[in-house]
Amino acid sequence: MTDLPFTFTLPMPEVIPSNYDNHIERRLSDLRGQCLDQEAYAAMLAQENSLVYEVYEIKRPEIAGEILMGVSIVHPGKVGREFYMTKGHFHTVINTAELYYCLRGEGFMVMETPEGDTDVQPLSSGRVLYVPPRWAHRSVCTSRQEDLVTFFAYPANAGHDYGTIEQLGFRKLVVDGSRGPEIIDNPRYQEQAAREP
Ligand SMILES: [Fe+2]
Repeated sequence: MTDLPFTFTLPMPEVIPSNYDNHIERRLSDLRGQCLDQEAYAAMLAQENSLVYEVYEIKRPEIAGEILMGVSIVHPGKVGREFYMTKGHFHTVINTAELYYCLRGEGFMVMETPEGDTDVQPLSSGRVLYVPPRWAHRSVCTSRQEDLVTFFAYPANAGHDYGTIEQLGFRKLVVDGSRGPEIIDNPRYQEQAAREP
């Protein structure tokens, strides 16, 4: 790793960084327990452990003052009516923000705070999203054919808390409705667990 300034490119249409250190693949099995339609999930997983999303990371020291960057690619697809999505997370250092720049595709960022505030923002090519400190975030691809591709940057000491979302879920979900994507309340949201200290 260098401490000299550097550049890289995000060449269209693949938008895979010209230089990266880490390529993470998340498959259907990584979303265990997270999907609204558990029967559809089990049936799909029995057929194939499909690739749901990928992340290309540019490594930096995970310390305050540094910035971590990368590209997230959520593939098109659905489990039942629910669009393919990332696991979603809070930052372990919860008072840290994140910046997203959507390069390609259509979708949403589903967000919520520990206090129960919720927000769902649309993502499309050219749109910048600011996720303030304290907001958990999950990207959802609603394109039928195309990947949802975002460039992200966040403080390098933020860390990832996946466990809270794995345990409780998000309060809002994005599903395929009769007139396109719909944002619904998550009937499986673990209210009881959320109230426990
Ligand atoms: Fe994040």
